[in-house]
Amino acid sequence: MLMEKPTFYITTPIYYPSSNLHIGHSYCTVAADVMARYKRLRGYDVMFLTGTDEHGQKIEQKAKEAGVTPKEYVDKVVAGIKDLWKLMNISEHRFIRTTDDYHEESIKKIFKKLYDKGEIYKGTYKGKYCTPCESFWTETQLVDGKCPDCGREVIDAEEEAYFFRLSKYADRLLKLYEENPGFLEPKSRVNEMVNNFIKPGLEDLCVSRTSFTWGVPVDFDPKHVVYVWVDALSNYITALGYGNDRYHDYDKYWPADVHFVGKEIVRFHSIIWPAMLMALDLPLPKKVYGHGWLNFNGEKMSKSRGNVVDPAVLCERYSVDAVRYFLLREFPFGTDGNFTNELLISLINTDLANDLGNLVSRTVTMVMKYFDGKLPAQQDSDPMDDELIAMVNGLKDKVEAQMEAFQFQNAIAETMKLVSRTNKYIDETAPWILCKDEAKKGRLAAVLYNMLESLRVASIFLTPVMPAACEEIQRQIGASPELCTWESTQSFGQLPRDVQVSRGMNLFPRINMEKELAELDKLMKPEAPAPVKSEPAPGAKEKKEAAEGVASIISIDDFAKVNLRVAQVVECERVEKSDKLLKIQLDDGTGTPRQVVSGIAAWYQPEELIGKKIIVVANLKPAKLRGQLSQGMLLAADVGEGASVIFVSNDIPNGSKVR
Ligand code: ME8
Ligand code: MG
Repeated sequence: MLMEKPTFYITTPIYYPSSNLHIGHSYCTVAADVMARYKRLRGYDVMFLTGTDEHGQKIEQKAKEAGVTPKEYVDKVVAGIKDLWKLMNISEHRFIRTTDDYHEESIKKIFKKLYDKGEIYKGTYKGKYCTPCESFWTETQLVDGKCPDCGREVIDAEEEAYFFRLSKYADRLLKLYEENPGFLEPKSRVNEMVNNFIKPGLEDLCVSRTSFTWGVPVDFDPKHVVYVWVDALSNYITALGYGNDRYHDYDKYWPADVHFVGKEIVRFHSIIWPAMLMALDLPLPKKVYGHGWLNFNGEKMSKSRGNVVDPAVLCERYSVDAVRYFLLREFPFGTDGNFTNELLISLINTDLANDLGNLVSRTVTMVMKYFDGKLPAQQDSDPMDDELIAMVNGLKDKVEAQMEAFQFQNAIAETMKLVSRTNKYIDETAPWILCKDEAKKGRLAAVLYNMLESLRVASIFLTPVMPAACEEIQRQIGASPELCTWESTQSFGQLPRDVQVSRGMNLFPRINMEKELAELDKLMKPEAPAPVKSEPAPGAKEKKEAAEGVASIISIDDFAKVNLRVAQVVECERVEKSDKLLKIQLDDGTGTPRQVVSGIAAWYQPEELIGKKIIVVANLKPAKLRGQLSQGMLLAADVGEGASVIFVSNDIPNGSKVR
């Protein structure tokens, strides 16, 4: 019988495409990704939704300032957001844009349905009006009582508007929190909602605007556009196909298991959203989890602080996995955290370089050194192993309990206790002494096996947080994917006794704190302000098109300008302190050695390349990468997230022209 998988539907907020995202923004998406990966490992059918919230006056204005249409404006920013999620290894997700046709169609229907049911009515919206700007403002939007746009006096005014009967839901909301204590977490947020918003009295909510046009028009009264929050919150169901034919997953995934949201938008998710769903007679989400904010050096985070809070810059410098690990290991999910560069670097050095990275390299190195990479099946256990084995066997329940409570920090801490315990076990068993005695070979093999098993289990628990690094650990310790299922963590001893390990890259190079902080300091104070982007730089269009696979047409003469040659790899080594770069010495047939630095270290071991023949772009302008001269580049194909170097037959002489 085929059993249906249980479902798990998790969402992040949909982001405003008003500016570039900083590391604080990526916090929620990374956390949701970790949860999604964890649930998939546990056998759930996961729907993971994220996206962008693209309507409203703010965007309309930004576009105007930039001299483009709102759609052009958002298209560009959204492309950058999608790239960021790709870079940060955000796993399979659905991405909704509130400007997507299907979403707009659903919003019109939702608004109409609420109107037809009498949940929305037409009234007047009283506010402040700036006559020269022709814009409506609320009291709170004013700056010193004046128009926030032009600084001039405003007048009292009224505007026709639609209202949602939010006030009538106060009692049902209070009852919801009371009967369903898990609906809103952490608990402290419930008191905030009840005392600050519901008890003082809920007012009906103005849900349409006529003072600007960048929004979903009310289809029975098109001079109105739907209020952005009604538009935005509905994304959680329109993305499943509610009110549209684009998707058909509503019955399968709704109600959502959890909405992850930042603390400042808990109010919208735990008051307005459930009230809207009640009005529509739809089931409520099972949980809203309001996470805290990341500050930077004790202050509110913003992109104006420079590149140091740019997630792409951090990932480039420290690796995506290290940044993901830091975000979840350092801060409890429900409360605010203070991000500093010192914290980030010191966590990478202690947890990742010293504890985990060191355990992997010690273990693999010893198996290589004492047994040529393959353990003998004949092994002698000892009662002193029992504690470590018991620790492994008890870990799954602990990790699961923490993950189910969204306590990522604690879940990771549980696993890292095993990593520390295993490092201690190495010191207790002293393999470097055992290896001296031929009679203790069986004991030595058992000790190394136990280290490998601990690592296997730890790597499975850490996979949701550091998918790429854990895959590499598993490859190095000889744990094939079938031996790395979540269920397999239940019992110690899954690796074959005669397991074969493989040497690999240093996963988490130690960072020199002082030097790195100085570098970051420089990044924080850019010498000159970034040039204002206007016309794309020459060649930028071609570059972009090439990246998207729609290379522009060039003439044969253009192609002939590229000097492609066959060359042989003579030497190859890693570039220090870079996990991306390999330094390669080539024989290109000219008699003068040619050095090329290539960003393929994640996919190739240096030894693998030596002796192979490749194609080099020989007339590329030389460049320096991490202080190393690079004279040209190797041809490689993009394969998935990785790269595959184009090798050619060893029969072709070095220096042969390729055309
Ligand atoms: O609020 N630390 O979008 P948004 C942690 N479009 N989280 C942070 C943060 C920080 N320093 N700064 C921002 C919106 N965030 C709406 C959501 S949902 C139907 C509509 C979080 O781009 C913030 O708390 O302003 C929020 O959860 C998310 O980034 C998106 O914020
Ligand atoms: Mg479900």
